[in-house]
Amino acid sequence: MTGATPPHPTPSSRRGGQVEGARTAVQPAARGQGVAALLAEIADVGTDRFRGGYSRHGFDRAERELREWFAGQAAARGLAVRTDRNGNLWAWWGEPGPGAVATGSHLDSVPGGGAFDGPLGVASALAAVDTLRQRDFRPSRPVAVVVFAEEEGGRFGVPCLGSRLMTGAIDAGTARGLRDQDGTSLADAVRAAGMDPARLGRDDESLALLGSFVELHVEQGRQLDRRPERTPVALASSILAHGRWRLTFRGEGNHAGSTAVTERRDPMIPAATTVLAARRALAGTEARATVGRIVPKPGGTNVIASSVDMWLDARAVSTSDTRGLVGEIVAAAGEAAEAEGCAVEVREESFGDTVLFDPTLRDELADRLGGVPALPTGAGHDAGILAARVPTAMLFVRNPTGISHAPAEYAEPEDCEAGVAALARVLEHLAG
Ligand code: GLV
Ligand code: MN
Ligand code: MN
Repeated sequence: MTGATPPHPTPSSRRGGQVEGARTAVQPAARGQGVAALLAEIADVGTDRFRGGYSRHGFDRAERELREWFAGQAAARGLAVRTDRNGNLWAWWGEPGPGAVATGSHLDSVPGGGAFDGPLGVASALAAVDTLRQRDFRPSRPVAVVVFAEEEGGRFGVPCLGSRLMTGAIDAGTARGLRDQDGTSLADAVRAAGMDPARLGRDDESLALLGSFVELHVEQGRQLDRRPERTPVALASSILAHGRWRLTFRGEGNHAGSTAVTERRDPMIPAATTVLAARRALAGTEARATVGRIVPKPGGTNVIASSVDMWLDARAVSTSDTRGLVGEIVAAAGEAAEAEGCAVEVREESFGDTVLFDPTLRDELADRLGGVPALPTGAGHDAGILAARVPTAMLFVRNPTGISHAPAEYAEPEDCEAGVAALARVLEHLAG
């Protein structure tokens, strides 16, 4: 993190200790002189040499280092940093007060994620503050740059954990009991980070300060890249309803060589059938269903698993479509489990209804930005959680690879700067 600005990484090789495969909009530039320089400062934090890309998860070492980096950036700008009761960081330009305009995103990643999902929104928010100050802009409302905790749910399983806790979308007791893969509870993780787990929970005091929230994010798809007008920036119109389900298949652990097929109760068989059922259920729809994580126990090459945990991520345009899709997949899982003499248990780990971003705010901002398009997205965001309580908007920055949640996620430096310029115009409008 500290020291010389790292060189521009190549897309698919490791050079000089750079993270394999991850691409960052890194240009040699002095600190505070642009979003690329800010991203360059954190280019070596949380690199994942096994998966490629970055693994930065809520309250782990990498994310805590990023929090410190953010606090340092805020201090360098004279912004007062506060950590709220849920571990979200707020850097204030002006005295915190009602009607504040907040902007920011998150610094955690998925396992083996890209350099932009999250950090681009945080770095752009800091750079937008710099832009406005260079213009001698004096906000008439307080402005806050926010970093939300554990947005990806990569450690504790529930996405947008910081904003869900803040808005009361998850109960504090449930959240405290969430455990990571090593069995560490969220309560213990926040305690280790110097916070009081008893204070986790709905934070009406912080919410009451917010007049509006704007999250800038790398686009997760190629809608902008494919549009003929070649605009580098868009607004968001909506987010799919989405959730996560954990399916546990239980069978009988046994020997891979000595157990005849008629004697097997192999939980991997219904798990595999369920993966295929999820793909089949998507035929002719715009819905999504993904199994990105599957864990057999005990996990030996020559061992028939005794159980398999599998996580289903499902998304569709409406809550009822999403629930219908999951119902269909779960029914297939039940049938497949029964046919193999196994049992299946299903637990919903998170859910969020469809988000329609405030159309008045969106049109107002589109106008301000010269008529940029408004795009729907299938990706979840803290902005989607905040939208239920605060007028909220999102800005997307073009991603020429269209890839996200993987090291090839990318945005060109000049598009990132266009994003900062757009965000600065939005802040000027909302806080002016
Ligand atoms: C977060 O990026 C999600 O959509 O899962
Ligand atoms: Mn993400
Ligand atoms: Mn994100």
